[in-house]
Amino acid sequence: MNPKEGGIMHTFINGIKVFFKGNLSAQPLIFIHGFPFDHTLWDNVIEQLKDDCYCISYDIRGFGSSEVGHGQYTMEGYVDDLEAVISQLGLQEVILCGFSMGGYIALRANQRLQNFKALILANTTTTGDNDEAKLKRAKAIYNIEQDGVKPFLDNFFTAAFTQNYRQEHQDKIAILREKILAFNPLGIKGALLAMISRTDTTRSLLEQAPPTLLIGASHDTIIAPKTMKDLASKIKNSHYVELQNSGHVSMLEEPEEFVEALKSFLIMHPLKENKNK
Ligand code: MLT
Repeated sequence: MNPKEGGIMHTFINGIKVFFKGNLSAQPLIFIHGFPFDHTLWDNVIEQLKDDCYCISYDIRGFGSSEVGHGQYTMEGYVDDLEAVISQLGLQEVILCGFSMGGYIALRANQRLQNFKALILANTTTTGDNDEAKLKRAKAIYNIEQDGVKPFLDNFFTAAFTQNYRQEHQDKIAILREKILAFNPLGIKGALLAMISRTDTTRSLLEQAPPTLLIGASHDTIIAPKTMKDLASKIKNSHYVELQNSGHVSMLEEPEEFVEALKSFLIMHPLKENKNK
């Protein structure tokens, strides 16, 4: 394990770059970013939870500093990567926090591994793509092949962030944009393939949901908040929080409210004691 710039520890597990913050003896909490971002999406959230939890984030295969490999990804492969991270770090009673595509991974992991202490699902859904969405993603893969990632990303950002946020945080958007444009397009196209072929996890979640926090956002045009609210109403041990002023990328648009929702949820569930606190 090597210290990283900014004092964050990291390691590689099966080609996946994994980052840690907080005390090893504390409650493990794994953060899974969405498409087409990297682990830094969680930086602010982790900074505010690191005194209570052992916070682990990683770059999904094909994004950030993780290996890209063949680019023929599936949700199963992404869950294999997550499983390797959990087992190689020897983590138990993990809380999983997944945003959007990271939520798809968390939901399939919950179905497959069945041993999570709690789930935090932000701006995500249990349903698979309908035909229209599949065709849209197929077209996106073709377009990225023809014209590169830039036009695709411009459209994605328009959908993913509110106009307010894009106008008020042009600097942050520009940094994020440059970062993503430096990723290997194979990783981005591979993630689109993985999302097209993902399965529906609704039934498994309803049958075996650990305590679950669902966070929706009123202005999310990618995952409608109603989808999350309806899902929450069917899960026995669940809490739903709707952030009122943000679009899809809610932990960036409403960081304080997002962290507040997590903290309130974590307080309700007994965490592993942080011996060094
Ligand atoms: C994400 O933010 O991870 C993606 O927008 C999810 C999706 O396109 O379904």
